[in-house]
Amino acid sequence: MAKQEDDFKRVISHAKEYGYVFQSSEIYDGLSAVYDYAQNGAELKKNIRDYWWKAMVQLNDNIVGIDAAIFMHPTTWKASGHVDAFNDPMIDNKDSKKRYRADVLVEDYVAKIEAKIEKEVAKAEKRFGDKFDKEQFLATNQRVIDYQEQARSILSRLAKSLEKEDLSDVKKLIEELEIACPMSGSRNWTDVKQFNLMFGTKLGASAESAMDLYLRPETAQGIFVNFLNVQKTSRMKIPFGIAQTGKAFRNEIVARQFIFRMREFEQMEMQFFIKPGTQMEWYETWKENRMKWHLSLGLGEDNYRFHDHEKLAHYADAAADIEFRFPFGFKELEGIHSRTDFDLGNHEKYSGKKLQYFDPETRESYVPYVLETSIGLDRMFLAVFSNSLQEEELENGTFRTVLKLPPVLAPTKAAIFPLLKKDGLPELAQEIVDDLKWDFNVLYDEKDAVGRRYRRQDANGTPFCITVDHQSLEDQTVTIRHRDSMEQERVAIADVKRIIHEQVDMKTWLQKIQ
Ligand code: GAP
Repeated sequence: MAKQEDDFKRVISHAKEYGYVFQSSEIYDGLSAVYDYAQNGAELKKNIRDYWWKAMVQLNDNIVGIDAAIFMHPTTWKASGHVDAFNDPMIDNKDSKKRYRADVLVEDYVAKIEAKIEKEVAKAEKRFGDKFDKEQFLATNQRVIDYQEQARSILSRLAKSLEKEDLSDVKKLIEELEIACPMSGSRNWTDVKQFNLMFGTKLGASAESAMDLYLRPETAQGIFVNFLNVQKTSRMKIPFGIAQTGKAFRNEIVARQFIFRMREFEQMEMQFFIKPGTQMEWYETWKENRMKWHLSLGLGEDNYRFHDHEKLAHYADAAADIEFRFPFGFKELEGIHSRTDFDLGNHEKYSGKKLQYFDPETRESYVPYVLETSIGLDRMFLAVFSNSLQEEELENGTFRTVLKLPPVLAPTKAAIFPLLKKDGLPELAQEIVDDLKWDFNVLYDEKDAVGRRYRRQDANGTPFCITVDHQSLEDQTVTIRHRDSMEQERVAIADVKRIIHEQVDMKTWLQKIQ
């Protein structure tokens, strides 16, 4: 646990030191769970957003993208169920006065049991070496079986109590498990209560005429209310999808863990409109498609897993998360939800407008079912950033900090250095910058010894460093140094663009999905 905490602290301080993420309004001591993306962070975030958009919208001829407003008519949220059901169960510790999500307290307890299982696996792996069969071990080791059963029965009881809105049983579970407040260590809990997560605001100048509005808690509703407009104007036939990226807002009770759980965050969502009855097929297809997208970035297959929901959201008939191994353990990164006709059906009911699709082949009209993929851009950022940050021991016994971002996502693709600040080297380096900047984000750096400049760019996540020296003036070649292998090669200046392009081109990366 202490190592996890240290690793996570390192991620947060690196994000600040290298201009990725800052606390919002830091000069006023910050605003809880609100963050700003700095010069490198904004680029990384944009690159992740583009990578998603290209995979979802550009490469699928049956998916189109939109950009709906954050403010929506307030009845939207009545129809979507968010006014009545978008709640989290909260509990306060009477001694520390800290507020927690009751379900998260129980889930954290279960995460500790899962950590024990992982520890047993690691021990056995060490003992048996090459002969170790993980699956067999998990199925036969009595201690592990007991842990698994304990975790399963706790989660299933929690899911049942939440499903039945039996909040007193959630409290009972916390008491039976003897869960203590992480701050005070005490077990002096209040009752569990529901808490609505939407932020309210007002539209209009005078108090009497102002209309109550909400900041959208998900981008999806902007897609639902536009479904028929988009279908008609794009002449799409079912099955087809509508995608969008944009801000969402939730008054989270527990907003720790840096950009993992924020009060203002960005989602990348896609609603896929399908014929009723085909939802399970599409559910499996989109689970597979989305996992392939993640794996294409090369963050490691072992770092992902599916988690099927025991407690379904108010709109879903099946749901799974793609979980990622964050520095604090496996947690939800993306949700894949079969939303039935819940949203479109309710918008029909509340608006009194038909939201039906006319099938030209069967000549029938129906309210489509919806399969949704929903990923948090900030969570994806944290997954990429934390996974890429590494401390490496070098051959000479020293250490380097390197941010091994997938080159396709790196904010700066190349840094160009003159070896010395004289003899015409800066001028040639600047010429290379001026040529490359039309294709890539590049930077010029002439400060400090080259070794230090390499280290700076390693920590910044820049995949290539290009050094201009005296030989460059004679034969128009430079050295190109690769961030991950630290290998250097001498190449013609004329080839630099091609070499970078091969490594950072989205096409090369996304072709792995097909
Ligand atoms: N439209 C469906 C929906 O909003 P969700 O599971 O509540 O489903 C989808 O959210 C994704 O949005 C999550 O998997 C997560 O990546 C991201 N997300 C949700 N709440 C978040 C928060 N408070 N901070 C950052 N990301 C969040």
